[in-house]
Amino acid sequence: MRLFRKIKKEAGEVDFGNLPRHIAIIMDGNGRWAKKRGLPRTAGHAEGAETFRTIATYCKDIGIEYLTVYAFSTENWKRPPDEVSAIMNLLEKYLYEAIERMERDRVKMKFFGDIEPLPPKLKKLIERTSEISTHYKGCQVNICLNYGGRDEILRAAKRCAENYAKGDSAAFSDEAFSKHLWSADIPDPDIIIRPGGEMRLSNFLLWQSAYSELYFTETLWPDFSKVDIDNAISWFQHRERRYGGV
Ligand code: FPP
Repeated sequence: MRLFRKIKKEAGEVDFGNLPRHIAIIMDGNGRWAKKRGLPRTAGHAEGAETFRTIATYCKDIGIEYLTVYAFSTENWKRPPDEVSAIMNLLEKYLYEAIERMERDRVKMKFFGDIEPLPPKLKKLIERTSEISTHYKGCQVNICLNYGGRDEILRAAKRCAENYAKGDSAAFSDEAFSKHLWSADIPDPDIIIRPGGEMRLSNFLLWQSAYSELYFTETLWPDFSKVDIDNAISWFQHRERRYGGV
């Protein structure tokens, strides 16, 4: 019992001098969180957006360099139209407020995914936020929107094939390929966190996750707290990363 307590306490202790550079999160469980409370699914997304705000601020404050979140996948268009537009509205609201605060917070934002099919107002806000971000050097938040890992890989493969056809014999190297991904020039995620109890990647960062540590928790995303992120970081800090070596 004493030993268990000791392990439990240590599990939550973060070494702030040795943080992962890049944390990625699949923000799952919003619908179930709402259902448990007899609320519409959209209320779960609204609460999830608040959680994102809290966790992004915390990551910035403790010195995480990159935070990537899965906000809307290429498959999420299959959801009922009112749920899709509720998510788009939440994103608009978030970006509108973020623009006001970016200068103070020195947070950079980047978007992974094809923004073309998104509502025009949201597209404009994305372009504005991306432009402002070029002036800052702080913590970078990557929001995956209309993003799919397979779609990203296919797009990169096409670009490599075009370059190969033009005579670039090195067009298919690991390095050259990575340059055509939305995440070009960003280190791969050290840890991918998935709240909500499912243990799969769901088309998230398929190329970039080759050596990421995968952390799953039953906690639903709207309930996810700073303590949960500390637990995930602490767990990560006890992993031995071998990258195929011994
Ligand atoms: C997955 O939970 C969640 C989504 C598809 C939407 C995520 C969007 C937000 C958190 C809001 C906006 C984001 C930002 C960055 C401001 P689910 O609906 O699949 O949950 P379930 O598995 O319980 O049904």
